[in-house]
Amino acid sequence: MTTTTPVLDDHQYRADVSSAKAAARAYYDTDTELMSDTSYDELLAGIAAYEAANPDSVIEHGLFSDVAAGTSTGGTVTYDVPMLSLDKVTDLADIEAFAERIAAAGGTISIEPKFDGMAFNARYDNGTLVQVSTRGDGVTGEDLTTNVLKLDITGLPRTIAETGTVNVRGELLMTRDDFDHSNTNRVASGKPAFANPRNATAGSVRKNDLQYGVKLTFVAFDAVGLDAAQLAEAGFTLSATIPTGDSGETDTVARVLAFGAYRKSDAFPYPTDGIVLKAIEPGVRDELGTTSRAPRWATAYKYEADTAITTVRDIIEGVGRTGNISYTAIYDPVLVDGSTISRATLHNPTIIAALGVGIGSTVEVYKANDIIPRVGRVTENGPDVTVYEPSDVSPSGAPLDQSGAIWRSTDPADSIGALISYAGSRDALDIDGFSDAIADALVSGEEPLVNDLGDLFTLQYQQLASLSLGTTDKGTKRFLGGKTAEKILANIEAAMQQPLNRVITALGIRKSGRTFGRRLASHFHTMDALLAATEQDFATSGVDGVGPERAALFYEGFQRNRGVIEKLRAAGVNLGSEPEEAAEGAAPKPLEGMKVVVTGAMTGPLAARSRNEVNELIEAMGGKSSGSVSKATSLLVCGEPGSSKWAKANDLGVRIVTPEEFAELIGL
Ligand code: IVH
Repeated sequence: MTTTTPVLDDHQYRADVSSAKAAARAYYDTDTELMSDTSYDELLAGIAAYEAANPDSVIEHGLFSDVAAGTSTGGTVTYDVPMLSLDKVTDLADIEAFAERIAAAGGTISIEPKFDGMAFNARYDNGTLVQVSTRGDGVTGEDLTTNVLKLDITGLPRTIAETGTVNVRGELLMTRDDFDHSNTNRVASGKPAFANPRNATAGSVRKNDLQYGVKLTFVAFDAVGLDAAQLAEAGFTLSATIPTGDSGETDTVARVLAFGAYRKSDAFPYPTDGIVLKAIEPGVRDELGTTSRAPRWATAYKYEADTAITTVRDIIEGVGRTGNISYTAIYDPVLVDGSTISRATLHNPTIIAALGVGIGSTVEVYKANDIIPRVGRVTENGPDVTVYEPSDVSPSGAPLDQSGAIWRSTDPADSIGALISYAGSRDALDIDGFSDAIADALVSGEEPLVNDLGDLFTLQYQQLASLSLGTTDKGTKRFLGGKTAEKILANIEAAMQQPLNRVITALGIRKSGRTFGRRLASHFHTMDALLAATEQDFATSGVDGVGPERAALFYEGFQRNRGVIEKLRAAGVNLGSEPEEAAEGAAPKPLEGMKVVVTGAMTGPLAARSRNEVNELIEAMGGKSSGSVSKATSLLVCGEPGSSKWAKANDLGVRIVTPEEFAELIGL
């Protein structure tokens, strides 16, 4: 059996999201535990980490912002006045520039913490708190009234002395003390600690069965229908009035730096990773206005990453779906930037050697982009510590290909677990209910049920229902069970109709993922054409990005998968078909010849689509999807005005459209 350690790439992220969704559903729908609480929390932490570092690739999964599963929901709430987001600045010079803009408009700046909780809207009708709902996407949130009203929340009065409808907006959070307290209780009752205060808050307001003496706090930003003085009068804690440690400085950067130090002191009770700067005067706010997404009179800044010193206890080798070997350092848990971390990828043998890291090394760890744990350097190797020597055989004992920086196993037995779990993920065959745990179980044991992708499609009900999922923490054996087996079989059946590009992606051919799945499918149309193609055919196909290296890998990859492809064919999996001749005078496709880049969160008709699905759409409409903005870009579909792609497109004069405008353009 191969262990798949988290490889922090896009594929792994997507696979993890689908595993977490499957686990949440299985747990609440069928009471099946597909993974331990610890694994689930780790999975979510990894997903959160990836999303924070790759905001452009976030897919809508609802694991954090919707009801993941089994939690009470009163449905959705629509905001007439949207709950806006905040623009970000990344360095002190940008803060200076922001301060100058506000000063030029005649305004003054208040600084306040950037809280690490969740934004909520609290609605009062004729003075009574009647609805509490999440920010969601800013226009539509999730109604969590029932749950929230069960909790004891400091700073959220049940009644206020106002008539009519008042919507108070603010952050629901756990103070640092409350976070520690609830984590202690959780650990004492056998549950894993929450990774950070935000997760703790989100988890607490969504659970029906709160049992850890959770205390939450509400801090108000503003309200629709009341001004600051009225809010304070009504008993709210206003974010703008929270002390930030500046002792009368007037320079904005100095105030930001002062808070950077103050926020870590015991006097400061709130979990925070940054600061928000806002123009105070209502007139200035009105004059500067807002974009569709964020006010122009406010901005947020994150402080530089924290570091911590810890000791490496283990280094784990894993194999990814195309055979790449990964190395993960496991170290004593340390608190960095508000969350506890205990593992980090070491990338490859060259980096391991360059760091000089081994089991027992004292290391400095940090979070890249404030979120992905990394080992920065070795601070000390004691006399007994030797630099880790990566093994030169794979977990199955096969010799490794060491010709590149990343070592690889060429034995399919090593990568089958990762391959099958990726094949089931949303970006490949999208088999609902499939998870890493199930994939692992399918490929494990003396006589694994699944030895290649083809085997997935011949699974029988009995085999799945009795699939062993190991033992629980209490030592009882767990099986997948009939209900889940039935669902998964139905979903496997449905997956047979997935378009060819997804089947190609699922094969796990080196240097091919979603993008090349799409490009190869749209050029070759059928799996048979791909099997018939020579290396030369790939090299001269004109498919974007296919040079000599990919041509060789693709040729070899399809040939090697001949047997698997025949199994897929026999099972009835869609292997593509020749396109029909375009009718004479048929309307040209709306994106013919255009190079399109997509960035930010999709909204409107595109909201439910993953980035991959939007790219599929672009290509179906005759366009080419691309990841970066350049002079050659024809169109930027932008869900995040102000982002770096937006700025570049602006500079280059590239046409920018909102997701809604794009949907209209392609006739969605
Ligand atoms: S004001 C009009 N103030 O940031 C702007 N938001 O990006 C509305 N947040 O989801 C938000 N601390 O959860 C504001 N001091 C603060 C904040 C803050 C954290 C979060 C909030 C919201 C997000 C907006």
